[in-house]
Amino acid sequence: MSTVAALNARFGIDGVVKVVAGHGGLPAVEVTGPQGNGTVYLHGGHVAAWKPAGMEEVLWLSGSSAWADGKPIRGGVPLCFPWFGPKKDDAKAPAHGFVRLSEWELESVTQGADGVTIGLVTRSNAGTKGWWDTDYELRHIVTIGKKLTMELELKNVGGGPLVAEEAQHTYFGIGDVRQVKVLGLEGVKYIDKGAGMKEVIQQGAVTITGETDRIYVETEGNVVIEDPVKGRRIGIAKKGSKTTVVWNPWVAKAKAMPDFGDEEWPGMICVETCNVLGWAVKVEAGQSHTMATEITAGRL
Ligand code: BG6
Repeated sequence: MSTVAALNARFGIDGVVKVVAGHGGLPAVEVTGPQGNGTVYLHGGHVAAWKPAGMEEVLWLSGSSAWADGKPIRGGVPLCFPWFGPKKDDAKAPAHGFVRLSEWELESVTQGADGVTIGLVTRSNAGTKGWWDTDYELRHIVTIGKKLTMELELKNVGGGPLVAEEAQHTYFGIGDVRQVKVLGLEGVKYIDKGAGMKEVIQQGAVTITGETDRIYVETEGNVVIEDPVKGRRIGIAKKGSKTTVVWNPWVAKAKAMPDFGDEEWPGMICVETCNVLGWAVKVEAGQSHTMATEITAGRL
């Protein structure tokens, strides 16, 4: 029996959950539930699609994404861990860490009142210790329903404390990035990665008028993306996260990325739940830390 068939025999739920060979043949859990549909890849513990009942797809996926072992998926919700962006002391290390590059283990699939919950895990091993000498378990618990809930649980199974950066790097599908407003970050300080890490205070709603790569700090409140073109409002609530990244590559950077279509940039915005830079999480031996995002979508 193939891996996919074996996983489907173990975790499939008739008419609601199916394990399939997704893009590139990568195993994916497909949910078609009364509250919403979605797809979660074992590769990267990655949510690739979510469509609450009665709405169109909320997440963005590039038509040029790679779908292969060793490559990240461009779109959906990549998980960045245990560093964010380039690794400080090793330019050759994979950007945004290594957990988005390989297959996670599917641990559980259950159907409940809020939708279908899928549990995935990845653990430290000899390979990961070559990059980062730490013993950990990282779980992504995803509920596909009227809401999309994603909990990233980091457990320190080693003998000393660990410090890690982490992100749920969510790509949202929008009508036109030049027309959206991101609300909830007014008056918040951000570090402008596109301007030499300059510190700036956000004035009014966030609007996108060029390449944007910002780390908003001490962010615990809710954020809303207002999309007048799609007539949609996306709500983002989070827990256990102190930073929020807002990213759009705009024209030149989109062209420079091989796995991102040249003309795709107006249709997406990343609003990322994260703990990065000086806000990296510290977890004592035997302890856990959970960072979570809850996404809702409604009409404007
Ligand atoms: C964002 C970073 O979160 O991710 C950007 O702040 C980066 O600096 C972007 O360019 C995409 O990263 P990647 O590695 O997926 O191309």
